[in-house]
Amino acid sequence: MWSFILNFLVASSLGLEVSPEEASAVGAVPPGYAQFTFAAYIDNWDYSYYQYPLRYYINTYYWNANQPGPIFFFCGGSAPIETFISTTGYIDYLAQQMQAIVVYAEHRYFGGSLPFGNKTYAPYNMKYLSPHQALADWAYLITNLKAIYQNVPVIAWGGGYGGMLSAWMRMTYSNLIDGAIASSAPVLYFNGTVDPNAFNAFVTSQYASVAPECPAYIASAFDYLESFYLNTTEYTRLQDTFETCNPVAEPEDVGLIVNWLQNSFTDMTLYNYPYPSNTIFPLPANPLTVACSYFNGVDITNVWEVLTAVRNAANVYYNYTGLNSCSNTYNPLSNGNFGNQQGWSYLLCSSLNFPFGSIKTTSMFGDEPFDQVAINNDCFTLWGRTPQINYASQWYGASNNPAQTWQYASNIVFSNGGLDPWQVGCITKSFGTSVVAFVAKGAAFMMDLRLPNAADPSDLAAARATEKTAIQYWLNG
Ligand SMILES: *[C@@H]1O[C@H](CO)[C@@H](O)[C@H](O)[C@H]1NC(C)=O
Ligand SMILES: *[C@@H]1O[C@H](CO)[C@@H](O)[C@H](O)[C@H]1NC(C)=O
Ligand SMILES: *[C@@H]1O[C@H](CO)[C@@H](O)[C@H](O)[C@H]1NC(C)=O
Ligand SMILES: *[C@@H]1O[C@H](CO)[C@@H](O)[C@H](O)[C@H]1NC(C)=O
Repeated sequence: MWSFILNFLVASSLGLEVSPEEASAVGAVPPGYAQFTFAAYIDNWDYSYYQYPLRYYINTYYWNANQPGPIFFFCGGSAPIETFISTTGYIDYLAQQMQAIVVYAEHRYFGGSLPFGNKTYAPYNMKYLSPHQALADWAYLITNLKAIYQNVPVIAWGGGYGGMLSAWMRMTYSNLIDGAIASSAPVLYFNGTVDPNAFNAFVTSQYASVAPECPAYIASAFDYLESFYLNTTEYTRLQDTFETCNPVAEPEDVGLIVNWLQNSFTDMTLYNYPYPSNTIFPLPANPLTVACSYFNGVDITNVWEVLTAVRNAANVYYNYTGLNSCSNTYNPLSNGNFGNQQGWSYLLCSSLNFPFGSIKTTSMFGDEPFDQVAINNDCFTLWGRTPQINYASQWYGASNNPAQTWQYASNIVFSNGGLDPWQVGCITKSFGTSVVAFVAKGAAFMMDLRLPNAADPSDLAAARATEKTAIQYWLNG
């Protein structure tokens, strides 16, 4: 899971130069999209400061200057922008129907939009990474695009963190943004507005729903690993069983295996689509069912049988291609389509203080209560700072009483998937007619933004129709 990247990066070297290969983008971009860069201000609140090249893609193929459609503006999240272009085909599909221009804008400090080149992730250069700076970059870009393209209306799109940004973009720059589609956007996943244990309980319930005995196996694997933290006689066998890239030599290395496992089981839940996909790593259709199948016939009292099975289950995520030579427990996502995740680690330590916990009674990941003090300490070690816990509540209306904020917001669709654990921190109920929210029962994380597929659950078509109708209403009344 994204939050655990924090732990991984404790082990990675900080402020290291990032090579162009590492920063370069991954993922396939469909024809019609051309890449440009835009001179954005490193500090949008001090225009005397330096500029840097912000990457974006634009597709004007469907647009007709004589009958100009809107601009669909995709707010990039914590990955190279190509990763989003290749996993949100519905936007292009709808643009075709509505003669829209499509713009995919990268988020600063991700992909190739690096304000300080290969020194971008040095801790002293990180302070310009925040949602408000990213939104301001895009406001500036949109102002320029509108000047070129007849001042047409702009619809913001985004999913996950990018979905939060698309909603916040509409709230912040309603002069530029006519409406926003926010898919699987956890705008309420903050202190005081979410139960920190709900996310992992939800993940666990998803495993139970595909294979009732599965969570017990995963829970016992976590128990066995916990019992090995201090048992150095088992370290070699753990290293061999999990084929770790780095030796298992310290209790922390056992902890990295635990995080590596938890990360895979969580991410598979997000991308539990009924067809093969490739958001971070290539996955088969119904990855949870495939992962749980590795526990069939396993003796739950046999430590090494269970640990071997749990490794195989996790490898449905990390090694579906069969090309992995070892398990990178230090930085599990390093060779995935999300690229370098130092920026995400910093966001979790600054503006996005997501409270995650786990309790044994509801979660297969065992007891790991949410601990703000530990997060503060980790963040201080990593980045020399502690999180701004109330960032979202002070600036973007995350509140115990969401009605207070959201009834004054307008023209936002919050779309959620009934299989998505993030929904515990999302807006799932409408506020009036202008902030519309729904949960598409059979859908996983950000699934509405993907190209329609024959295997889609039936309520996804209705979800996409709601989005289209809302956009038409915002444009035409
Ligand atoms: C980092 O950038 C500097 C200046 O452009 C360059 O000289 C150096 O080779 C780069 N280092 C890496 C690892 O790419
Ligand atoms: C977190 O939320 C709790 C409950 O609303 C509140 O008592 C506490 O002060 C908050 N913590 C911080 C650091 O704001
Ligand atoms: C370490 O593990 C071995 C094998 O599982 C077991 O025999 C031994 O008692 C354990 N040692 C401790 C200190 O738990
Ligand atoms: C990845 O899968 C291949 C093929 O099944 C296997 O040979 C290899 O050992 C796996 N790698 C790891 C690190 O598990």
